[in-house]
Amino acid sequence: LLQRFVPFATLGVACLASCTLPATDGAANEASVAANLTGEKRFADCAKDPRVSTGLVSQRICTGADIFFRETFDGNGRTCSSCHRVENNFTIDGPFVQALHQNHPEDPLFVFERDPNLTQLETTDLVSRGGVLENVDGFQDPVNRFVVRAVNHLFSLAITTVADTGDRATNPPVERTGWAGDGAPGDGSLRQFLNGAIKQHYPKTLARIEGPDFRLATDFELDVTLEFQKSLGRLNELDFTQVNVFDAGAQEGRRAYMDPLRARCNVCHFNGGANFIDTGKNRNFDTRNRLFTGFRGGTQPNGFPIFDAGFGGADLTQPNFDVIEAGFLSGFGNGEFNTPPVIDAVDTGPFFHGSVEPNIESAVHFYSTQDFLGSPAGLALNRRFGAPVVITPEDERTIGRFLRTLNGAFNLDLGKQRLDAAQTLANQFHDKEPGRSVQLGLMRAADAEIKDALTKDLTDSGFTIDPPLYPVAQDQLALARNEIALGLSATDWSTRQSHISVAISRVLSARAQFGANITYRLGAGNLMF
Ligand code: HEC
Ligand code: HEC
Repeated sequence: LLQRFVPFATLGVACLASCTLPATDGAANEASVAANLTGEKRFADCAKDPRVSTGLVSQRICTGADIFFRETFDGNGRTCSSCHRVENNFTIDGPFVQALHQNHPEDPLFVFERDPNLTQLETTDLVSRGGVLENVDGFQDPVNRFVVRAVNHLFSLAITTVADTGDRATNPPVERTGWAGDGAPGDGSLRQFLNGAIKQHYPKTLARIEGPDFRLATDFELDVTLEFQKSLGRLNELDFTQVNVFDAGAQEGRRAYMDPLRARCNVCHFNGGANFIDTGKNRNFDTRNRLFTGFRGGTQPNGFPIFDAGFGGADLTQPNFDVIEAGFLSGFGNGEFNTPPVIDAVDTGPFFHGSVEPNIESAVHFYSTQDFLGSPAGLALNRRFGAPVVITPEDERTIGRFLRTLNGAFNLDLGKQRLDAAQTLANQFHDKEPGRSVQLGLMRAADAEIKDALTKDLTDSGFTIDPPLYPVAQDQLALARNEIALGLSATDWSTRQSHISVAISRVLSARAQFGANITYRLGAGNLMF
């Protein structure tokens, strides 16, 4: 993890706004170097970014990325990428944070350990499990009234947030963001979520006063960072009626996923995304996943614990919801959570808002339990289809194989997108800086995705995949990673370029074994770091 982290941080500094600076080591430096530039200055600097001058990325997306990765908004030193890490699928998890904490305790993510004003900004869940303190139900009493949640990955935001008005929310936000789809404070848009994140995560003191504690984003900063975020991951939905995966078990998993009398995942996660089958929009449900969390929330004035009741509740003075069905009111909200995309999530476990399920198979298993079957969402589906959902242990494995195939393909496409870009830059800039550093950064970013496909999809240290999934492809991907390593250590651009080109052909032949009609359209934001 350290090895993956350091080069990214280093390159971020070397390549963008401050191309002439010597590479520095570590995130703390990275943040402080380019923290206080205006959006306009960043925009001007982005004209010189080799990805922009070659037309791979627009100047606005480059600017949004620069803000996302480096702007601190006069706050406590954190950036969006303190929690949404490009090298870790734009999220953090327990092992990742533990390694970062050990190797880079100076990282701004851990500012609460150094700054006496911020000791209660986070809880021990941050370092132990990657859980982040969120005052989702208002800042009235920030050190007691809070929940702790996992960090959303930020893939596919372009297609996963348009609010479906058909759930129980009386006044839904325009866009459903965050685990409960509460949307941003203010107008509820993904655009304004940035300002919500500044107030939550960036303050210098918990008084959270604009001015002394942080500054809010300008309209320009909001616009370009929105464009960047909407260009992450994929821009299209698959069509599961056309998708054909070549592993027989995975293909059976596809059928179970879609069959309304079997796993019926497709009703809520249509085509593996986040939208409801009837409307194509993003809906909230009470699946009773709220019964589980790996994190500890806040405390009520009467000493009882606070649990996460999902959507709504910020205006309430008292808890209104018995979240864990233990006979006392423990949360602010209506019990509903927002449907996230599935394909993109497979390598970002543990799953759900409370980080409770370690692998995709155990996430599928949740839907076969009495907890889900007896939930408001589960019962509504039973009424709709006239029978309860039936998920066998075999279905858990085959749906796992299916989703692992789709996430593996997604990872390989991200990898190839980055390798293609590295090749373009090698042709154009040879060994000239900053083109050379960006090539290396893209190659490392590509390798992170290929490694994910190999170690989190096709194999998994926490789950035995039997029989092996696309074993020939696994061998080819290992060879592709070798080529990338050789390319990274090459001393001249033409050697580097020929290794990139072999790596691309290995990735392509591995990818071809997964199936047909798995076609992702990818956003240009994937080329930024
Ligand atoms: C300290 C960690 C941390 C930082 C820093 C942070 N986030 Fe987040 N982010 C989270 C957590 C936790 C969630 C889930 C919040 C929720 O459910 O309400 C989240 C959720 C999101 C989402 C919702 C995604 C979805 O699928 O609905 C967006 C968008 C987002 N963050 C953008 C940002 C931006 C932009 C910044 C920088 C201004 C930022 N975040 C900084 C932890 C962080
Ligand atoms: C009734 C609607 C509904 C159905 C049916 C449904 N889901 Fe979900 N799914 C949700 C909601 C809502 C969440 C968010 C739950 C939470 O975190 O509290 C979720 C979360 C998930 C997550 C976690 C994603 C992440 O980023 O951590 C996975 C994985 C998932 N679902 C897969 C599936 C699969 C596979 C099926 C079929 C077996 C399925 N879901 C059926 C609504 C549904």
